[in-house]
Amino acid sequence: MSFLPNPHGGTLIQLYHPTFDLKSIEREIPIDAISLSDLELIGNGLFSPLTGFLGKEDYESVVENMRLANGTIWSIPITLPITAEIAQTLIKGEMYKLNFEGETFGVITVSEWFEPNLQKEAVQVYRTDETAHPGVKNLYQRGNIYVAGDVILVKKPDKGIFTDVWYEPKETRALFEKNGWKTVVGFQTRNPIHRAHEYIQKVALETVDGLFVNPLVGETKADDIPADIRLKSYRVLLDNYYPKERVHLGVYPAAMRYAGPREAIFHAIARKNFGCTHFIVGRDHAGVGNYYGTYDAQLIFNQFTEEELGIKPLFFEHSFYCQKCEGMASDKTCPHGKEDRVILSGTKVREMLRNGVLPPSTFSRKEVIQVLIDGLKEATTVAGGR
Ligand code: ADX
Repeated sequence: MSFLPNPHGGTLIQLYHPTFDLKSIEREIPIDAISLSDLELIGNGLFSPLTGFLGKEDYESVVENMRLANGTIWSIPITLPITAEIAQTLIKGEMYKLNFEGETFGVITVSEWFEPNLQKEAVQVYRTDETAHPGVKNLYQRGNIYVAGDVILVKKPDKGIFTDVWYEPKETRALFEKNGWKTVVGFQTRNPIHRAHEYIQKVALETVDGLFVNPLVGETKADDIPADIRLKSYRVLLDNYYPKERVHLGVYPAAMRYAGPREAIFHAIARKNFGCTHFIVGRDHAGVGNYYGTYDAQLIFNQFTEEELGIKPLFFEHSFYCQKCEGMASDKTCPHGKEDRVILSGTKVREMLRNGVLPPSTFSRKEVIQVLIDGLKEATTVAGGR
C-alpha cells in the first residue's frame, strides 16, 4: 500500500514515445528553452494532469481562477508562444514537430491557436505588468500567439552534469516507497542552500520521514547563481551536514517564473507529482524584487483546501542566525533585536561572492561558500576569456 499522494488530477501522465515515427510529419514549430522544458515535464508527468499546451478555455480559466476549465487547481498557464508568421502556416488537427535548435523533441497535434491578453495574464499571474519583473519580461518577449494541443515527447534533452540527480516523478515515487517514507517534504530553491534554508528543511524533517531537496535548474534570470555551480554546493552541503538515509537530492527542471504566490501553488503541485506529501513555503517564496509581500506566497494557500490541493504546505517565518540565541531562529522563537541577527539579502551575498568576500559562517556553511567563490571565479575567467 502506498502512502504517497495521488498525482494531481488522479493519473501520472506518461507521454514519452521514443520510437514514434516522425517520417510522415513535415511541418515543424520552433520552440525556445522554456517550452522545451515544459514539453519534457508534460511528457514525464511532472505537470500532470496536463497532456499538452493549454487551449483558450483552460488558459482563460487558469489566468482568472487558478483552475483548469474542469475545475482542477492550476495556477500558472503552460502555453506555447509562437510568432504571427508561424501562426499563419498552421492547420488545425495537423501534427507538427516541436524543434529546439533544429532538433525534434516532441510532436504537437494542433487543436487551436489564439491571441492571449498578455497584459491581463501579467497582472493576474505576476500581479504586475512592469517589464522590470523577469517573468513579465519573458511573457512579453516570447510571442503573442499561443498554439495549443496535446503533445508527445519523442526525445529527452541531454541532462549533462545533472544526469545522476535527474529523476522523473515515477522514479522519485518508487524511491520514496523503497525508502519506506510515508511522509516526504519537498524543498524548492533557486539559490545556494544557506543556513536559513537548512534550518527550515531540518525543522521540517524533524516531523516527517524524508526530505526531498529539489533545486530548480531550469531557466533563471541572468544574475541568479548558475545551476552548475549551485549543484556542487548542494552536493558538498549534503555530504557534510545531512543524514544520507533521510535526504534525497534531485533537480526540479522547470523554468523559474518568479510569480511568487501563484508559483508557490504550482511548485507544490509539481512536488506532489514527485510524490511529496509536504512542501516548504518560507519567506517570499519564488518572489523577486518587492513585487510580493513577505508572506503572500503562504496566504494564497488559504484559497484552497488541503484536501483539494493534495499536498500539505509547511509555512516558515523569516529565519536567521541570532548571535544572542547562538542559533538559528525566527521572530516566532527569538526575542532579540535586529542588531543581534545575521540577515543578508541575496543580492548582497551575490555581490560579496563575486568580489571574493566571505559571508559569515552563521549565514552560510564554509564549504558552500568556498564552492560558490571558486565557481564564480571560474565563470568570470571563462567569460572574460571569450
Ligand atoms: S525561491 O525563489 O526558490 O523560492 P529561495 O531559493 O530564496 O527562492 O527560497 C527557497 C525556499 O526557502 C522558499 O520556500 C523560501 O520561501 C524559503 N526561504 C528563503 N530564505 C528564507 C529565510 N531566510 N527564512 C525562511 N524561509 C526562507
